[in-house]
Amino acid sequence: MSEVTVTEHLLLHQKRSPHATGQFTGLLHDLILSGKSISRRVNKAGLLDILGGTGVVNVQGENVQKMDEIANTVLMYRMERCGALCAMGSEENAELVRVSPEFPRGDYILIFDPLDGSSNIDVNINIGTIFSILRRQPGSTGEVTLEEVLQPGTQQVAAGYILYGPSTMLVFSTGQGVHGFTLDPGVGEFLLSHPDIRIPERGKIYSVNEGYWEYWDTPARECVSHFRSTKNAWGQSYSLRYVGSLVADFHRTLLYGGIYMYPPDIRKPEGKLRLMCEGAPLAFLAEQAGGKAIDGYTRILERKPDQLHARVPLFIGSAQDVDDVARIYAAHKKP
Ligand code: AHG
Ligand code: MN
Ligand code: MN
Repeated sequence: MSEVTVTEHLLLHQKRSPHATGQFTGLLHDLILSGKSISRRVNKAGLLDILGGTGVVNVQGENVQKMDEIANTVLMYRMERCGALCAMGSEENAELVRVSPEFPRGDYILIFDPLDGSSNIDVNINIGTIFSILRRQPGSTGEVTLEEVLQPGTQQVAAGYILYGPSTMLVFSTGQGVHGFTLDPGVGEFLLSHPDIRIPERGKIYSVNEGYWEYWDTPARECVSHFRSTKNAWGQSYSLRYVGSLVADFHRTLLYGGIYMYPPDIRKPEGKLRLMCEGAPLAFLAEQAGGKAIDGYTRILERKPDQLHARVPLFIGSAQDVDDVARIYAAHKKP
C-alpha cells in the first residue's frame, strides 16, 4: 500500500481544484477526524454496552440505535466547530441544524447519514457514514435558508463515505475521480489504497431486497427478472448479493461492478432511501467512477429535493447495467 496519507492527497489535489481553500481542506480534515472517532467506537461497540436501540423513533419513522445517536453526536459536535459550515442536515435530525453564532461560520453545508445500515450494527456487519458537501452562493449573508440547502446533487462540491468493516475505509470525490483510503489503525492515518477507482462498465452482481417482490410494480419486477434471467447481456444469471447496509452494498458495486436497486414499492411509493444523505452522494461517486445512478427515469443528480428528508428510488452501479434498467422503465409509462 502507498504511503500517501489522505491529507497529503488532499493538498496535492486541492491545488488544482476551485475549492482550494483552507476552509474546505479543514472541513474534510474534521470530517475524517469524526470518522476515526466513530470507527473506534464501532470497533468496541460489543464491549461498551452501546449496542441495541434507544427506544426512540426518528423523523424517518425508524428505531434509533444507540450507535446512530453516538455517531450523530460525534459529527454534530466536531463539525459545528470546524469553521467552514453554515448548516448541517442529518438523517437523525428532523430540521436543518444551523451553526450557532458562537462558532466561526463558513459557506459550506454538510448533509450526512451518521450511520448507515442500522439493522446491521448489532450483528457485526459493515456499516458506514455517508456525507455530501454543498455550498451556499458565495457572498450570501444572514441565516442560511432551507431553500438554499435543497440543491440538486449536481451542485455537490464533494461526497463520500467512511465504511466501518474488516478495515475502516474512506472513499470520496471532490469531482476529480474517486479515491479510496484505508485506515492504518497503528498510526491512525488513512493511507491511499485505491487511487482513481473506476467501476466496471458491466457487472455480474445484482443487489436488491428481493423479499419485497410482492410490493413492487411491474417495471421493478421486470428489472430484477432481467438480471436473474439468461436473456441478459451475459446470457447467464447475475449473482445476488445483499448486505442490507447501502454503504456496503454500494462499496462492493463500486469495486466489482453490477447494480444496486431500491425500487419504490406500494408501502414506500417514493422509495426508502434518502435523496440528500444517501442517493445524491453515492450517485456523485458512481458517476465520478464512470458509473450511473437513476431513479428509474431520471438521473439522481438532477433531482432537486423538495424537503431535507426527501426519498428517492435508486438504481446505481455499472453504466451498462443501469442503462438496462433505464430501458425497462422507458418502456413503461411514468406514473
Ligand atoms: P439507515 O440504517 O441509515 O436507516 O439506512 C438503512 C437503509 C440502507 O442502509 C439499506 O440499504 C436499506 O435501508 C435496507 O433496507 P431494507 O431492510 O428495506 O432492505
Ligand atoms: Mn442510511
Ligand atoms: Mn442512518
